[in-house]
Amino acid sequence: MKPSRVLAVALLVATACRAPAPASSGLRSTEPAVPPRRAVTFPEGWRFKAGEKAAFGEHFMIASNQVLASDAGNEIIRAGGNAVDAAVAVGFALAVTYPVAGNIGGGGFMVIRMADGRAATIDYREVAPLAASRNMYFDANGNPTMESIIGYRASGVPGAVAGMAEALSKYGSMTLAQAMAPAIRMARDGFVVDSQLYGSLRSSQGYVGRFDGKDVFYKDGDAIKPGTLFKQPALARTLQLIADQGPKAFYHGEVGDSLVAAMQRGGGIIVKQDLEQYKAIWRTPIRSTYRGYAMYSMPPSSSGGIVVAEALNILEALGDTVPSWGTAAYDHLLGSAYQRAFIDRNSKLGDPAFVNVPLEQLTSKEYARALAKTIDRNRKTPTPPNGAQIADGMHTTHYSVVDDKGNAVATTTTLNNGYGSAVYLKNVGFFMNDEMDDFAAAPGKPNMFGLVQGEANAIAPGKRMLSAMSPTIVLDPQGQLFLVVGAAGGPRIITATSQVILNVIDHRMSLADAMRAPRLHHQALPDTLMVETNGLSADAEAGLKRIGHGIKYIGGLANVNAVMRVKGGWEGVTEPRMGGTGGTSAH
Ligand code: GLY
Repeated sequence: MKPSRVLAVALLVATACRAPAPASSGLRSTEPAVPPRRAVTFPEGWRFKAGEKAAFGEHFMIASNQVLASDAGNEIIRAGGNAVDAAVAVGFALAVTYPVAGNIGGGGFMVIRMADGRAATIDYREVAPLAASRNMYFDANGNPTMESIIGYRASGVPGAVAGMAEALSKYGSMTLAQAMAPAIRMARDGFVVDSQLYGSLRSSQGYVGRFDGKDVFYKDGDAIKPGTLFKQPALARTLQLIADQGPKAFYHGEVGDSLVAAMQRGGGIIVKQDLEQYKAIWRTPIRSTYRGYAMYSMPPSSSGGIVVAEALNILEALGDTVPSWGTAAYDHLLGSAYQRAFIDRNSKLGDPAFVNVPLEQLTSKEYARALAKTIDRNRKTPTPPNGAQIADGMHTTHYSVVDDKGNAVATTTTLNNGYGSAVYLKNVGFFMNDEMDDFAAAPGKPNMFGLVQGEANAIAPGKRMLSAMSPTIVLDPQGQLFLVVGAAGGPRIITATSQVILNVIDHRMSLADAMRAPRLHHQALPDTLMVETNGLSADAEAGLKRIGHGIKYIGGLANVNAVMRVKGGWEGVTEPRMGGTGGTSAH
């Protein structure tokens, strides 16, 4: 989010590409060797201990931010469904049990890699309504307003229902009604509110309480209490209509009509034609490699796949051996690789239907070699003034699924800010996104910091706003499924996701350690290395300062959920920074 508006929102919130088929499709018949893991020492004072255990499943594993949603996927796999069926079940269940980011009023991205080697991605990002215009979020004096963040005008046209239904129809084995059954049951019969939901709603009361969610999520001046059996009849009805009629209930039928009527009442700009025209898009995955491992990730309209590939290519081009984890030398190279990849991200990427994205160039090894040569190992390079500031989404959620046949799905979905635009559609029971804020608000014009934001990501009707979501599936050098990973956290999604990948590949950490290791972030501008508080040793901090890095300590970087192959099965780890509120579900 733009810095000027981070404060304001803080106040409000208070609160089909085909890969070579592996030798055999199933895990148990192949049982490939997993490279041995190495112990790691975290800096003194770091909040997490190394050497913790991960959840283990011999047959399958699901990791999401909400255990009941992971359990929905578990139920589907046990009933004979595959990873795509389970991912769709998790996605709809998150819309019920994790309303801060799980959604049907938002959008997302899904990366699929089937055990037979087929790989695909589906883009169900929101699009700008047809009535959207380039300067719609400026007031009469040319100052940015808050309307891209909160209220009825902040929403893009939702893509979640179309995307999940489309993924299911092509790669799933169940009907929509089967995959949605756990979500419908939890909305209709209720689920027991946990302390995570209570805490999240309580801290967002000033935000959510501005609109119709106040009567549903708050009682007697407080959020619904932990232990309450929470039923959502309006959402249950909506989900049942979608299960019975398919996505047309949302885009052409009763649910859409209700959404449009609410928009009209509230001053929003989404009309019937916007919903009728919405399409989820199958896109060719970005297939990159890192030291012999293959990665499948998301092309634009997300920047995630390009930036992860570019940063890792730069790191690979810096040499066959990387400096040890936790040293200033390593943090400098990693931060410098991110800085360069983010400069490209901020200036060159946008919806490919509107912008000519140089995808081949940005993900090529040759380009990375050229960028690697610009890194001085002893001196930090300043970001040029036109390196572009980027929007920083506040809340999103990622889930990783591996089934008992070795099919894998990485999905990231979002309303943008927690509880989206705060607009809750009470007749149909869901929150609307505020994804319009992911566009560059003032392209071509300096903002209050004198920074110029990317023209490629300017608002236009029907255009997808650039995302940082980075669902990624990694194969080992033998072509076997190795890691399913992704994150929430705006641009920090990219750096957090790639650091988990680097931690398990280069530093041979266990997944539990890779997830607990302190993270860093560089996004070109602000030209600062962000590091988690107590995440640097004294030596590393001194070394980075000598090289010229400005260091900014922050409380926590991103929210990752990952599944990794280990001997005999799968490990799953949900984000430790979320205080144990996520949940794996396995067998
Ligand atoms: N809304 C956050 C993102 O798409 O990157």
